[in-house]
Formats: sequence, C-alpha cells, structure tokens
Amino acid sequence: MMNSAQNPRLYSIKRVKLLFLFLAILFAVFSFAASGQEKQSDPAAWGSNHVGKPLPEYVHGDECLFCHRNDIGQTWQKNAHGVTIRQREDAPVLGSLLAGQPALKPFAAEVEYFMGSRHRVRFLKKEGYGRFAILSIQAAITDGKVEKLIDGEKPAWDKEKFAARCAGCHATAVDAKTKEFAAFGLDCYTCHGDVNLEHTNDTSMIWLSKKKKDDSRAITSICAQCHLRGSASRSSSLPYPNNFVAGDNLFQDLQVDWSKADDESLNAGDRHIFRNVRDVVLYGKQTTCLNCHSVHGNSSLKHRRLLRDATCADCHQAEGPLKNLKPYTVRSPLCEY
Ligand code: HEC
Ligand code: HEC
Ligand code: HEC
Ligand code: HEC
Ligand code: HEC
Ligand code: HEC
Repeated sequence: MMNSAQNPRLYSIKRVKLLFLFLAILFAVFSFAASGQEKQSDPAAWGSNHVGKPLPEYVHGDECLFCHRNDIGQTWQKNAHGVTIRQREDAPVLGSLLAGQPALKPFAAEVEYFMGSRHRVRFLKKEGYGRFAILSIQAAITDGKVEKLIDGEKPAWDKEKFAARCAGCHATAVDAKTKEFAAFGLDCYTCHGDVNLEHTNDTSMIWLSKKKKDDSRAITSICAQCHLRGSASRSSSLPYPNNFVAGDNLFQDLQVDWSKADDESLNAGDRHIFRNVRDVVLYGKQTTCLNCHSVHGNSSLKHRRLLRDATCADCHQAEGPLKNLKPYTVRSPLCEY
C-alpha cells in the first residue's frame, strides 16, 4: 500500500483540503473581529430637527451674563467663540494697526467688524439686516499682531459671500431661508440652545450643564454643527446646517464625508474632529469633545487623562512617549486660510 507521501496525487488533495481549512478559519476570525468592532448605526435614527421650522426666540447672552458674569463673564471676552466676530471698537489694537496699512487705506474707514482672532482676521461691514459684506483682503496674525496682508492686490467688498458661505458658523441663529443672522458672533444659544430660565432651579433643563452632558450623540451634534468643516446641508446645500438648535440630531440633514476621519492629507486639527464625531455617531463611542476640551476654561489639558488609543495618533506618535507630537498646521479652504 502507498501512503500519501508516496502518491503525489493524494498528497496534493490533502494539501488543498488543508489550505481550505486554513482559509475558513481565517475568514471566521476576520468576520468575528469586524462584527465585534465596526457595527455601524444609522446616524439619522434618533431625535428630530428644525429644517423648515422657525428658530426659537432665544434668551440673549447679555441676559445670561447678568447672572453668570462671575463664572462665565470673566473669560468669555477672551474665548475664541466669544470674539469670533467683534465690533471694531472692541479691538482697538487691531483697529489702529489697520489704519497704518496702505493697501487698506480706501477701506479702512468702512470696516465695522473683525472676524477671527488667532491666525487670521477678516474685515466686515453691515449690509442690511442680519447681513455683512466681507472684504477680500485678510490679515495674517501672530501673537495678536498683523504679520502681513493677504490677497491685497484688488481689494473689494463681497456682499453675498458671508451669508452664503460663512454666517451659519460665525454668527447666531441664522435662518437658512433668508441666510440672515439674529446676532453677530456666537451667542450662548449656539451651544446651550433655547434656554428655559427655570433652569436656575433645575439645571438638567439646560444643555451642557453638569447634569445634562452625558448624551454623547446630542452633545456631539452641538459641537459638530460648526466643526465639521467641508460638510453641507442636504436640504439647503449651504456649507452650514439648516436651522440647527441644540438638542437636535444634526445628522438627519447634514451630509458628512466620513472618510475625512482617515484622510492623512487633512490637518490633524480638523481630522481628529471628524474621527471623534464618526466614532460617536456611527460606532456609539461615548468619548466626546467634552472629555478633552473645556470650552469656558479655554483648555484641552484634561485630554491628558484619557487612556491611549487609536485616536491619539492623529497628533501623537503611535509609539513611544506621549510628549512626542506630530506637528500640524490648521488650514481650511472653506474658511479661506
Ligand atoms: C456655532 C458654531 C460653533 C459651535 C456650536 C462650536 N464651535 Fe468651537 N469654534 C467655532 C469657531 C468659528 C471657532 C474659531 C473662532 C475664531 O478663532 O474666530 C471655534 C473654535 C474652537 C476651538 C479652538 C479655540 C482656541 O482658542 O484654540 C475649540 C477647541 C472649539 N471651538 C471647541 C468646540 C466645542 C468642544 C464645541 C461644542 C461644545 C464647540 N466648539 C462648538 C465655532 C463653533
Ligand atoms: C461649517 C462651519 C464654518 C463655516 C461655514 C465657516 N467657518 Fe470659519 N471657522 C469655523 C471653525 C470651526 C473654525 C475654527 C477652526 C479651528 O481653529 O480649528 C473657523 C475658523 C475661521 C477663521 C480662523 C480664525 C483664527 O484666527 O484662527 C477664519 C478667518 C474663518 N473661519 C473665516 C471664515 C470665512 C471667511 C468663512 C466663509 C467664507 C467661514 N469661515 C466659514 C467654522 C466655519
Ligand atoms: C461653543 C459652545 C458654548 C458657548 C457658545 C457657550 N457655552 Fe457655556 N458651556 C459650554 C460647555 C461645553 C460647557 C461645559 C463645561 C465647559 O466645557 O466649560 C458649558 C458650561 C457652561 C456653564 C456651567 C459651568 C460649569 O462649570 O459647568 C455655564 C453657567 C455656561 N456654560 C454659561 C454660558 C453663557 C452665559 C454663555 C454665553 C455668554 C455660554 N455659556 C456660551 C459650551 C458653550
Ligand atoms: C436670573 C439669573 C439667570 C439667568 C438670566 C440665566 N441663568 Fe443660568 N443659572 C442661574 C442659576 C442660579 C443657576 C444654578 C446655579 C449654578 O449652577 O450656577 C444656573 C445654571 C446654569 C447652568 C448650569 C450650571 C451647572 O451647574 O451645571 C448653565 C449651563 C447656565 N445656567 C447657562 C445659562 C445661559 C446660557 C443663560 C442665558 C440663555 C442663563 N444661564 C441665564 C441663573 C441664571
Ligand atoms: C481625545 C481628545 C480630544 C477629543 C475627543 C477632541 N479633541 Fe479637539 N483637540 C484635542 C487636543 C489635545 C487639541 C490640541 C490643543 C492645543 O493645541 O492646545 C485639540 C484641538 C482642537 C481644536 C483646535 C485646532 C486648532 O489648532 O485650531 C479644535 C477646534 C478642536 N480640537 C475641536 C474639537 C471638537 C469640536 C471635538 C469634538 C467633535 C474635539 N475637538 C474632540 C483633543 C481632543
Ligand atoms: C488634536 C491633537 C491631539 C490629540 C487627538 C491628542 N493629543 Fe495629547 N497632546 C496634544 C498637544 C498639542 C499636547 C501638548 C499641549 C497639551 O498638553 O495640551 C498634548 C499633550 C499630551 C500629554 C502630555 C505629554 C507630555 O508629557 O508633555 C499627554 C499625556 C497626552 N497628550 C495624551 C493624549 C492621549 C492619551 C490622547 C488620546 C486619547 C491624546 N493625547 C490625543 C494634542 C493631541
């Protein structure tokens, strides 16, 4: 009798069988890993939205700050959200610097508002109710000083751009139909929503209070309404959400390109946001922006307390000590810098 080692035909059948067994095991292992890890949920499945509905009459920041001047008022005027658009008289240093720029000379007197504060500043003037005209020139800023002017060749006012491209994320309560804002800059309403003044007795009535910041999808919707730069509203096609109010499900109307979470060509400042939002809304992760950022404290120090995982590698080297950072520069075609 011959054994398989001696019969080449039998030998190869045995090999093929073994190969199949090996492939079957491999397949089982992979599909198990995939099902355990990446079960996607439908981002639109929960909550509601304000598309096509009127925006609420919200309580204005001045009123909030009347009571919250000690806990919030102290830092609000230095917060990037609080100053994203401010009146010229509130930024005297910048105002006087501009007066000395020859390229701006014909326009300098017309500028009424500044937009941006950390890296770039844009110049605005009123253009009817709830609208701004925006100047083509921008100033590059370093340490609060004008470093240089950009696009200075043929300065011109654009009357449509701010409403069509910027308003929803740099102004408050923008109605997608008219593209007009109720207030310039970002009022408390943009994050805390339609605040009931009864919240003084029961703080669970107000979004982002200590008692109401554990709904990861709703919290993520609040920050993501402005921070997923490059997304668009399905209903209005505008590059910002259609009548979003804190508490809404942003993802019923916002079209998001989730592949940006893994796009190495996107700067880490924007990429870590796409990653975090994707992980929350598609994969049910509980870690939100608030686990890492303190908005009023103007700090991200608490992020150091988290356990190391794949999300850290957007900014830190994947291996080795966490003090080794990957440098990145924030850029955005949407915001023109
Ligand atoms: C309505 C739009 C809007 C919402 C809502 C919003 N942001 Fe922002 N955020 C901005 C804009 C605009 C800037 C940049 C402002 C500037 O520099 O002019 C900014 C800046 C920031 C910065 C950088 C600040 C700095 O000083 O370096 C952080 C961090 C941030 N936002 C986190 C958050 C978090 C967390 C939330 C949710 C609780 C949130 N944002 C909600 C629009 C928004
Ligand atoms: C989808 C929301 C959104 C829209 C629309 C939008 N921005 Fe922004 N903008 C942001 C956010 C969020 C930041 C802060 C990003 C960061 O620092 O990481 C920002 C930052 C900026 C900054 C930089 C501020 C600084 O000093 O760092 C400027 C300038 C700016 N935007 C101008 C514009 C202009 C001009 C438009 C319209 C042409 C526009 N943005 C449209 C969300 C938006
Ligand atoms: C960009 C989003 C954003 C805006 C705009 C905003 N807040 Fe907040 N607020 C938060 C977040 C997030 C928290 C949770 C604690 C933190 O991150 O600082 C918070 C917490 C608070 C708290 C509770 C403080 C605490 O220790 O938890 C108060 C009070 C408050 N905000 C008032 C205001 C007022 C008043 C305004 C307007 C002048 C305002 N907020 C504007 C995001 C915002
Ligand atoms: C009449 C005074 C008053 C006004 C107006 C007011 N608040 Fe409050 N607010 C309070 C008091 C009192 C509390 C409960 C004590 C505390 O935590 O500060 C509170 C609590 C909060 C909290 C939760 C703090 C926590 O401990 O978690 C937030 C957030 C907040 N207010 C935001 C706002 C915003 C935004 C506005 C404007 C839309 C506003 N408040 C208007 C008095 C006021
Ligand atoms: C795992 C922690 C973590 C999470 C989650 C996270 N961030 Fe960040 N983010 C950081 C750190 C750390 C920085 C860098 C801060 C610095 O440069 O001081 C940063 C930077 C930023 C910046 C500034 C980029 C720049 O340089 O202009 C913005 C804006 C921002 N985050 C918004 C968000 C928003 C919105 C969310 C939620 C969707 C979020 N982040 C989720 C840790 C986190
Ligand atoms: C968006 C960019 C960003 C992300 C994402 C991020 N970090 Fe950081 N991290 C920074 C920056 C910038 C610093 C230095 C400034 C600071 O301390 O905030 C830092 C500093 C640190 C430090 C202090 C290191 C030292 O010894 O100086 C620790 C620890 C840390 N990060 C942990 C983490 C962990 C854990 C994660 C993931 C859960 C993470 N970081 C995600 C940007 C980021």
